[in-house]
Amino acid sequence: MDIKRDSPYSIFKKAGAYFFFLLDSKNKHGVHSPFVFDFIQNVLSKNLPIKEIEIERAKLKKDHSFLIFKDFGQRDDRKCSISTIAKKSLKRPKEAAIIAQIVKHYKVNKVIEMGTSLGITTAYIAKCNPSISIQTIEANEEVLAIAEKNWEKLSISNITSFHSSFDKTLPSLIEDSPNSSLYFIDGNHRYEATKNYFNQIAQKCNDQTIMIFDDIHWSKGMEEAWKEIIQDNRLSLSIDLFEFGIVFFNIRLQKEHFIIRY
Ligand SMILES: C[S@@+](CC[C@H](N)C(=O)[O-])C[C@H]1O[C@@H](n2cnc3c(N)ncnc32)[C@H](O)[C@@H]1O
Repeated sequence: MDIKRDSPYSIFKKAGAYFFFLLDSKNKHGVHSPFVFDFIQNVLSKNLPIKEIEIERAKLKKDHSFLIFKDFGQRDDRKCSISTIAKKSLKRPKEAAIIAQIVKHYKVNKVIEMGTSLGITTAYIAKCNPSISIQTIEANEEVLAIAEKNWEKLSISNITSFHSSFDKTLPSLIEDSPNSSLYFIDGNHRYEATKNYFNQIAQKCNDQTIMIFDDIHWSKGMEEAWKEIIQDNRLSLSIDLFEFGIVFFNIRLQKEHFIIRY
């Protein structure tokens, strides 16, 4: 692991990355691709929070009990409150709703989430279409147990969780995934790991596969991995939303990269 490359950006560096994102980004008025125009109209503009899930998120944010937070290779294990995890590690309501809307709009059959945490984004995806199947991997047993309780409270039954590491479980999930699968890669934000997950999935994917990479501007390593991924000729269109990046393998789409603010 290259510690310097894989350390999270300081607040100043992150602000710099956001500044360059804003300079390069476009909104719907500057986009000529019909596919991306449709994405802005029918995905980005439909990012409504789900009230019942937000009630559970609010409870987690007020829960000051502690658990051991394992960072799986990034930092040392440390004690951390559920409240801190709920405030810092999860996708915000807007982004969780966008991910769920991607699943709905592109008629995805199966979602593989890498990094469940407290299961809030998983719940958004599950609620957007109760007939799809979601598989989610989480190595931290304590957070996964809380996620499972949340899904029970929300009467969600289309999630299968794996208490495991990505390295151990991802290969068999890729093997079993049907057409039209979406991979949400939201853990282990290191250059080597991110490239490795991309390559494993890309080897087996088809033209309906979608991948979402979280935190593509989190560190130098993540920005490098993202830049290399979008140049890969196996994928066609890619979109940088700053918070996360999306890649499509649909061969009917021209190979193009878009930077979109919303
Ligand atoms: C950012 S959180 C996921 C947030 C969640 N997707 C959401 O939006 O609600 C990342 C999670 O990935 C887990 N994780 C990190 N590296 C892992 C690995 N190699 N194997 C399994 N889980 C891992 C961490 O324990 C952490 O809970």
